[in-house]
Amino acid sequence: MDYDVKDLNLAKQGRLRIEWAEKNMPVLRLIRARFTKEKPLRGVRVGCCLHVTTETANLMETLKAGGAELRLCASNPLSTQDDSAAALVTDTKIGVFAVRGEDNKTYYKHIASVLANNPQITIDDGADLVSALHGNGNGGAAAGVWAGLEETTTGVIRLRAMAQQGVLRFPVIAINDSQTKHMFDNRYGTGQSTVDGILRATNHLMAGSKVVICGYGWCGRGVASRARGMGAEVIVCEVEPIKALEALMDGFRVMPMAQAVREGDVFVTLTGNLGIIRQEHFLKMKDGAVIANSGHFNVEIDLDALDQMSSKRRLVRRDVEEYTLKDGKRIHILGEGRLINLAAAEGHPAMVMDMSFANQALGVEYIVKNRGKLPLGVHALPERIDREIARLKLKSMGVKIDTLTSAQKKYLAEWTMGT
Ligand code: NAI
Repeated sequence: MDYDVKDLNLAKQGRLRIEWAEKNMPVLRLIRARFTKEKPLRGVRVGCCLHVTTETANLMETLKAGGAELRLCASNPLSTQDDSAAALVTDTKIGVFAVRGEDNKTYYKHIASVLANNPQITIDDGADLVSALHGNGNGGAAAGVWAGLEETTTGVIRLRAMAQQGVLRFPVIAINDSQTKHMFDNRYGTGQSTVDGILRATNHLMAGSKVVICGYGWCGRGVASRARGMGAEVIVCEVEPIKALEALMDGFRVMPMAQAVREGDVFVTLTGNLGIIRQEHFLKMKDGAVIANSGHFNVEIDLDALDQMSSKRRLVRRDVEEYTLKDGKRIHILGEGRLINLAAAEGHPAMVMDMSFANQALGVEYIVKNRGKLPLGVHALPERIDREIARLKLKSMGVKIDTLTSAQKKYLAEWTMGT
């Protein structure tokens, strides 16, 4: 079996952490139990490019229980948990190609190793696998793909652009479009783990700090509400008037970045866009400003510009790089501007990844069942699967809800009844 991980001796520690996550993934456990019996994925080759974490390990073990043949590489050079990667190789016998801190060349070599197994289904977090499949020389491999699945907002944006330009060669399921994914993973998962990453990197006191949230989408809303919960004064920067209005009525101050940079102590970018914090912004920041990114790619902070403006650069803590500008002002970049929740913390808690990865597991089964029937393009999973995941999650949490009475159902389907 081919693999490339840091150190197989880390497997024991990885196994303990994978088991810890498993305890908080009851929906995925139910799916795994059924997959073990029914083997709905028998012999299906699945190529995965995901953050190699304990939660992903649980997804891999669920797909394997269903009979899938797997290969896994990282969807970010800094997000790999080397112990989880080692445990997947030693105990689960999955070909993992991921080493935390790998350089760009190795990152793409690892993607190529996953593609070398000619996947019939792809699972991406950011669309790097699908994008590589559409690159030069991979046309043959793309032709063998039944369909793909995409985990995150940025990946879905890239795939929709490919579909619109008519270059996408197979159907893709946008897992991020499931309500049981973005409403929980992006909001509460990113919300909590981004704050966790910032705190682990800096040991900063949130209470009394001015925290600037750039982008008030699902992720931004989550970080803003968690930061406020810890006593921070939150400022929001947006480009969409409706989102800006929502932030305002949620009780946050809203202003352009040019103004926010004069006030902020901590900045977090979560836009999925590039160049959010640039040269003109660094120039106006306070001494000691802390900047983190939790959007998918490391393009939201213009680090090249910051580097050019700086006279000195040094690592002052594990995930904190201090840039000293020519006027002596210091700016701190966390986790090299990469996803801070994965670079400096452990990513989303298992309890929320349970729902995201239940969507992935059932999505793979859905593709197998509907092989050849899905039209080209980017689609959401059927709503019945989304609702079923929510139902199972509530059940696992011991929460019961009401059901509509027949009179209520009739009333809701009626238009002639008034007061
Ligand atoms: P979203 O589409 O709900 O929100 C993005 C927001 O950024 C939008 O409201 C948009 O108007 C705003 N925006 C775009 N350009 C801007 C600019 N120049 N200035 C200010 N605001 C701007 O997307 P979502 O789901 O919140 O995802 C955001 C990013 O986070 C994506 O890259 C996504 O892939 C990533 N993500 C990261 C996770 C993590 O673990 N850190 C988890 C889930 C998603």
